Amino acid sequence: MVQVAVLGYGTVGSGVVEVLETNWESIAKKAGEEIKIKYVLDLRDFPGQPVEKVLVHDYEVIVNDPEVQIVVEVMGGVEPAFTFTKRALEAGKCVCTSNKELVARHGLELLELAKEKQVNYMFEASCGGGIPIIRPLSSSLTADEIDEISGILNGTTNYILTEMAEKYADFNKVLKEAQDKGYAERNPEADVEGHDACRKIAILSSLAYGSHVNYEKIYTEGITKITVEDMKYAAAMGKSVKLLATSKREGDKFSAMVCPVLVGRDNPLYSVSGVFNAIFVHGNMLGDAMFYGSGAGKLPTASAVVGDVVDCAKHLHENIMLGWSGKELELMDRKDTTHRFFVRVKGSVSENLEQAEALFGPVSLVEAEVAGEFGFVTELMSEGDFEEKAEKLPSMISRIRVRA
Ligand code: HSE
Repeated sequence: MVQVAVLGYGTVGSGVVEVLETNWESIAKKAGEEIKIKYVLDLRDFPGQPVEKVLVHDYEVIVNDPEVQIVVEVMGGVEPAFTFTKRALEAGKCVCTSNKELVARHGLELLELAKEKQVNYMFEASCGGGIPIIRPLSSSLTADEIDEISGILNGTTNYILTEMAEKYADFNKVLKEAQDKGYAERNPEADVEGHDACRKIAILSSLAYGSHVNYEKIYTEGITKITVEDMKYAAAMGKSVKLLATSKREGDKFSAMVCPVLVGRDNPLYSVSGVFNAIFVHGNMLGDAMFYGSGAGKLPTASAVVGDVVDCAKHLHENIMLGWSGKELELMDRKDTTHRFFVRVKGSVSENLEQAEALFGPVSLVEAEVAGEFGFVTELMSEGDFEEKAEKLPSMISRIRVRA
């Protein structure tokens, strides 16, 4: 029997307990032994609930118990999760987590510690919730040179953008409704400002390219400035606005970015709606692959965590190499990356198009019947070039990148 301790009895922690209890028999067959929860750590009490029998408030009980071989860290946040994880690994225990913030910030150090101690640090649930993506990148697709990962990696923002597009509803109104329904956090900043997606693309890119991607160096733009008018133009173009987290290999250079993008109908990410996540991967041998599914939520996320627990149970004292090296991947200057840009401009086509074309060259007009303004799409150009030109167009309202 393998004994497990779960740190945190919140949404994911209670999901992990539920998955292990519901599927214990099939999980035992797959793991080769029964997996049992010995402890659940939480500051709170849960009077009258079954978890009471295994509930502890002191981490020392867990870390000092040699019978605990796997620790599930689903507390979220950096501290005390980081300290608890380090101590568990130092004590020779495997750790499985859904904590993307911790993995993006300290994953490399924790993986090195796990290797030194011949145990494992696993984080399948940190990106894409229940969608298998960490294992495909680190073991199934190792024959390939991955040259692109583009993902809808945040369910909250995808839900908001979908509602805005379908109902032509304002961002703040949809956010409020999403919070009331429990889809969005009370403090939605990490989601709507793109920080959550940024951490996830940093983790995926580190695994795909084998060198550490520092999430703090990834240019990140959220969805707070997207408006109903943008959605009307998107519909007129047959495109949808998605918060894309993208990293690309361009020759011997790499770029990474998180921002709203207009995605066309021929792109598989176009129709990913609501809280769903999807990750598009391109490999030089594989070609295109797409991973799609439930990117968040109690049971999908817990399913990914427990999948890692099973893998740890099968490799208790054998470190599985993940190929995330300490060499930091140098990212291209954002200004050198190229895109087509959708631009909204105040005024009429007859009065303003000439100036726009004088600056940007030939553009494609977009008719969406939004009063007092018009829109156009530029040719492919660098971000730096676009910004220089945009500064000379004072009537510009906004711009969104268009997927080439
Ligand atoms: N807040 C995240 C999301 C949860 O909305 O996708 C899953 O990481």
